[in-house]
This record gives sequence, structure tokens and C-alpha cells, in this order.
Amino acid sequence: MSGRIPRQFIDDLLVRVDIVDLIDSHVPLKKKGSEYSACCPFHNEKTPSFHVNRQKQVYLCRGCGQSGNAISFLMAFNRLDFVEAVEDLATFVGVDVPREQIHDADTVQKRDASGLYDILSNVAGFYVEQLHLPKARAAIDYLKKRGVSDDVIREFGLGFAPEAWDVLSNRFERSQLIEAGLVVTRDDGRVYDRFRGRLMFPIRDKRRRVVGFGGRVLDDTLPKYLNSPETPVFSKSQALYGLCELLERQSRPKQVLVVEGYMDVIALTQFGIGNAVATLGTATSKAQIDLLFRFASELVFCFDGDNAGRQAAWKAVEAALPALRDGRQVRIMLLAQGHDPDSLVRAEGAEAFQARINSAQVLSDYVFDTLSAQGGLVSAEGRARLLADAKPLLEKLPAGFFRDMMFERLHALAGLRLAVSTEKPGNLLGAPAQRARSDRLRPSLLRRVIALLIQYPHLAAMVDRQALPFEGMQLPGQTVLHEVLRTIALEKPENTAILLEACRASSHEKVLRTLAVMELNVPDGGEVEEFKGALAQLMKQARQESLTQLLAKEKHEGLDEGEKQMLRELLKKRAQ
Ligand code: UTP
Ligand code: MN
Repeated sequence: MSGRIPRQFIDDLLVRVDIVDLIDSHVPLKKKGSEYSACCPFHNEKTPSFHVNRQKQVYLCRGCGQSGNAISFLMAFNRLDFVEAVEDLATFVGVDVPREQIHDADTVQKRDASGLYDILSNVAGFYVEQLHLPKARAAIDYLKKRGVSDDVIREFGLGFAPEAWDVLSNRFERSQLIEAGLVVTRDDGRVYDRFRGRLMFPIRDKRRRVVGFGGRVLDDTLPKYLNSPETPVFSKSQALYGLCELLERQSRPKQVLVVEGYMDVIALTQFGIGNAVATLGTATSKAQIDLLFRFASELVFCFDGDNAGRQAAWKAVEAALPALRDGRQVRIMLLAQGHDPDSLVRAEGAEAFQARINSAQVLSDYVFDTLSAQGGLVSAEGRARLLADAKPLLEKLPAGFFRDMMFERLHALAGLRLAVSTEKPGNLLGAPAQRARSDRLRPSLLRRVIALLIQYPHLAAMVDRQALPFEGMQLPGQTVLHEVLRTIALEKPENTAILLEACRASSHEKVLRTLAVMELNVPDGGEVEEFKGALAQLMKQARQESLTQLLAKEKHEGLDEGEKQMLRELLKKRAQ
């Protein structure tokens, strides 16, 4: 399969499917009034808090907060990626997935990938055979010397690439070897084996297909490790060593430990810590984090305690922030200098290592400790620096409770008064003011307004987007409101499920899903009146809030021309 799935097809699919039937075929539902419910398939519970709504075509668990449309359900329930879920949903509805025609070289290559998987798997098998021949004595000795057990050698499919230039080219088809990155092409067009005299680690994807290799020398020669180059089926920044093996052991791990080396994963597994995966010598990427969060809600990043390790940890934190929806957790574990998980677990045993994992620092503590250490919080400059460093970082967090909590903590650390004076001139609402506003507005009114829009998309026609009172101000829920309005204007969704689909992969996706199923208690046909009232009230509150801010600023610091103008307008409106 190749080419994009047309958007229109996905929307049609969501109109044709009945989410109640779909979910009922996976999790038997009980009907109660207009709602269908069951014990939640996404967390353990005894009384049903998982609800499916036929009219809106969405589901929600009031216990764990999982929610979404039919596609989201299949993704979460069957651990599928988006395209896989659409394909399964199409099968459920009984239609074929059409593909848009794309004629670039990239898709042509992808179409032929099945041949690549075959050769990679055959070569992996060949390397395993080689490891057990007499000439691989040195490799076996090396593994023994490092204490690697036969069980993990077998489980991870370790092999050996003989010390020769042409063992692969003599046995496999040349063009396939080239495409799979297993040989290197010389200037004169001849090829030679990429991996020679190395211990081989096959890298598999989550469907158990070999996609590439890492190869280690048996002595101190450099480079210590060689990896497959980028190929149509292998990308270092997306692959995760050991994920396939982990998922075979536990299909639903609670936690995944992310380490740096092949040997770390293998040693940990051997010692019974079976939830480790490794990146392949590159910084942890967003794609890798997203992939891991599909299987586990907690990631623990484990790095060396040296400078390079700290830098890598910080990069991982930055990559993880956008993925930190509520309910997901990241922790950071830095090891003592000179140790890696492999050496440590062998030195101190599994129990002590597990204790380290258990006491790894949560991301929020790690972030604030690191930033505070950099700035020195005693001085005003230090606190200003903290604020300046932390803000862009925290802004990567998706909207939600965790983000609010992080900002609150930042403001507490930096000191509220300081925060006001570091605000750029012209920005009416400084950081702490924002918080006051959001506390008052967000839980009740703004949330309700947005929820009404999501549940009754046609209401968007009533909103004059230009006239929104908080245009230009930074208010947490405000970006969500604008995104919803923009998406409705653009997509004209027929129902809530289709609107949610259009917001997939938006940083607000989780919030939107929650609001889509928020209990609003609107009487039948009463949504227009309800919305009008809520919107008017919201605008009034926002004006009042701005007024208070401006008056305070006028008293303490004075106002610039733009602000004075705004103050006059607000006072005039209040008088009306
Ligand atoms: P390490 O050197 O920490 O790996 O590099 P390790 O697993 O601890 O190695 P040994 O066998 O115990 O000495 C971490 C990862 O970085 C990549 C590999 O993926 C490795 O597992 N790497 C390292 C390379 O790609 N090339 C290298 O030359 C070194
Ligand atoms: Mn090591």
C-alpha cells in the first residue's frame, strides 16, 4: 500500500461506521438510556465508567480519561498506528481503502519493501548460523567473557559476520544487498560486505521484521559499532532496539526503560529487567517517544551521569514534552560516572538496579532542578533567567492539567512580582496574571464554550472570530478555542467524531477529546440559547479581567498609548 488516504474517505468512513457496533464487537456494551457502557478496556476497574455515545460517535472513560472516535478506539485498543486503524475500520465497514496516486521515487521504493524484509531476515538467519561455526570461536568467547547467556543470545538473535569481504555477495542478490544497506558500493561499482568480523545485533520492528543491523567489533578497533545505513525500511532515529523482543514478553508493559546501548538492553533482559529498549546512538526522537507511548504510559530515560549523558537527557526531555498529555509520565535516571546499565546491573544485581529505576526523578523535578541550578535562584537575574529559559520549554507541553501545574510551579519558583516586570511591554497579561485569569475562566466558562462548539459544531457560525475579546492575549484555553473555530470553519464537520478526526495530532487533541464528551446537560434543541449565554458571559468576564489588569498596571507602572486606548474602550463598554 502506498499513497495518502484521501481525507474525504476517512470522513465518509466515520459517517458510515457506528461506533457502538464497532466497540461492542471488541468490548461487549450494556445499554443504559441513550448511553452504552462497559468496564473500561484501558484500565482495571470493577464498575463500568467507559461510555459510548451513538449520537456524537465518540467514547469516553470517566475513570482514566481515554476518549475519541472510532479510529482512536482501534488505535488504542489494538495498538495500531493511524493507517493501520483506518484499514481495519474500512474492513469492518466492508470497503477498500483508496489511495491517492503519488509518483515520487519514495513511494515506489516503499512499495517494494517486502523484498527488503525478506533479504534482511535471510541475512539475519545466515549470521546466526555463522555464530555457531568453529570460525566464530572468537565471537562466542567474547560473549562469554562479557557474561552474555545463551538464552539472550537466542532471544535477540545475535549472530556473527565472518571476517571476509564477500560472504554476502556470494550468496545473495546484489541489487537487494545494496538496497538493504548490507554491502558498500566502491567507486568502480564493485561491492563488498559492510559488516566483517563483527558480532551482529539484528534490529526488528514491532511487527518482528528485521529492518537493520548493528555490528560490534570483538576488540578495541574503531568504530566500535557499525549500523545499517538509512534504507526504505530502516531509520536510526525511528527504530528502537529491543522493542520487538519486549513486546513479545509483555504486550502491555506499564513502563519502558530507554537506555543507550544494545548491550544494555541485553544485559538488563538477562537479569530479569525485561522492559528496556535502546536508541541507536542518536538523540531520542519525537517519533520514538510517540511510538513508546502507544505501548506504555510511563517512560524512564536512563543515561550516563557524565556531561554527554546530561546533554542527551535534556534533549530527550525536550523531545518528550510535546507528548506529555495528562496520564503520561516521564522520569529521568542518571547513572554514576563510568557505569552504564550493562556494567551496573552486573555489578550490583537486578534488585538494586530496579530500586534505581523506582527512584528515578520525575520529569518536572528534573526540569526545575536543572534550570534552577543553571540560573541560581537567589538573585533576581537568576530568577529572570529561569523564567526566560523555562517558558519556551513549558510551552511545548500540550494543554492540560500537567501543563498548568508546570507553569504554576515556574511562577512560584521565579516569584510572581518578578514575572510581571520581565514581561515584554505591550503584552497585557503577564504570566502570573494569565494564571489568575485561567483559574477563573477555564474550568467553567471557557471550557463550556469550547465543549459546546465541539459537541455542536454548527454553533461556530455564531462566533465572530475577530471580535473575541482576548484576541492577542495569552490565555491557556484561548488557543484551543481558536483552533476549534478554525478547524470548524475549514472542515465543516458533520458531527463531533469528524471534528475530532480533523484535530488528530493537534497538540490539544486530548483536551478536545475530553471536551467532546463532557456532560453539558443541554436540553434538546437548546444549544443555541445556551451557547449565546455562555459566550456573552465569557466576554464580559474577559473584559472585566483585562480591566483589572490594566488598572493595576496603571497604578504601579503606568500605561503606554495602546494600553490607555484599550482601558478607555473597556471603561466605555462597562458603562454601556
Ligand atoms: P555505547 O558505547 O555506550 O554502547 O554506545 P554499549 O552498548 O555500552 O557498548 P559496549 O558494547 O558495552 O562497549 C551506545 C550506542 O551508541 C551506538 C550504538 O547503538 C551503541 O549501542 N554507537 C556507539 C554507534 O553507533 N557507534 C559507535 O561507534 C559507538
Ligand atoms: Mn556498555
